[in-house]
Amino acid sequence: MSDEPTPLRNGPVATAAAGAVPDEITIKLDGRTTAAPYSAGDTILQTARMAGLQAPSSCEIGSCATCMARITHGSARMLNNDALEPDEVDEGWVLTCQALPTSCTVRVEYE
Ligand code: FES
Repeated sequence: MSDEPTPLRNGPVATAAAGAVPDEITIKLDGRTTAAPYSAGDTILQTARMAGLQAPSSCEIGSCATCMARITHGSARMLNNDALEPDEVDEGWVLTCQALPTSCTVRVEYE
């Protein structure tokens, strides 16, 4: 009976796992805050660029950390991370060139 739907035991977790994406990402860069429209599948770095922001970047493969920024609200997952330590990730740091939002509201701040 593999066609039977699996009962959901935990609503909020199940919703997040289904792939929540925001309509926009709030990005703070150089002291300015911008609401950048988000397109599903784009990274945070791509979203910043599409909004006309000069977000820092270099390798764009997740190795240099030039693009790092901190998620201060919401969540994101990285496709690749060869630069950040686990404690940095725990503190909310992401490599924006590899980061895809995973919550309906996301705020990211560059330092
Ligand atoms: S630009 Fe190098 S890790 Fe993102």
